[in-house]
Amino acid sequence: MKKKQNKRAAIYAGTFDPMTLGHLDLIERAAHIFDRLIVAVAEHSRKNPLFSMEERLALARAVVKHLPNVEVDRFSGLLVNYARAKGVHVLVRGLRVFSDFEFEFKMALTNRAMTPDVETVFLMTKEDYSFLSSSTVREVAELGGHTEQFVPAVVHTALKRKLGAAAVQTAERKRRSQQLAVDE
Ligand code: COA
Repeated sequence: MKKKQNKRAAIYAGTFDPMTLGHLDLIERAAHIFDRLIVAVAEHSRKNPLFSMEERLALARAVVKHLPNVEVDRFSGLLVNYARAKGVHVLVRGLRVFSDFEFEFKMALTNRAMTPDVETVFLMTKEDYSFLSSSTVREVAELGGHTEQFVPAVVHTALKRKLGAAAVQTAERKRRSQQLAVDE
């Protein structure tokens, strides 16, 4: 007898500016649960991303290339409209810390009010990454800190390329002001 196919698809949306190891952990775990996972990169008009949409898409594709059931796409406008257009009924969200809950709760209920047949599924992030966010990573990189422990290698390289000069200047300025303080 032919086995019944259970093509369960889900969408994991975010700005991914840039994608972190926390995002990747969530994507890998969701890819185990669902037959097909769409990582949907948001246009996001309210945030002013460091990486362009094309760069975020390319980085996301590079980061998930080892996962055959994961694809990367872009979207703008309401996430539920995108889900409906794709024929997907599950949105995956990560919960990092307790303080995420209220925001996520409101978002899930708003999405459900707009589209009752779209369900939000929450996964707890790995504790190692529960403190991470893209803006924290960007700040560390901007101030010349090391980001290897927070982001996939390809993102680390992209951050260095984008912020390299600025980070070197910041570190140099800091070194000079410390030197001045010692000399005085
Ligand atoms: N590991 C590491 N960082 C994580 C993480 C994880 N597992 N989960 C979330 N984060 C970070 C994100 O990078 C983000 O960091 P930043 O604010 O410093 O950029 C922060 O935590 C918040 O994450 P999230 O809430 O997922 O924000 P986002 O900007 O990445 O994505 C959208 C939000 C795009 C999914 C949401 O705004 C959306 O659906 N927009 C479409 C419009 C819409 O439908 N609006 C109605 C919603 S009710």
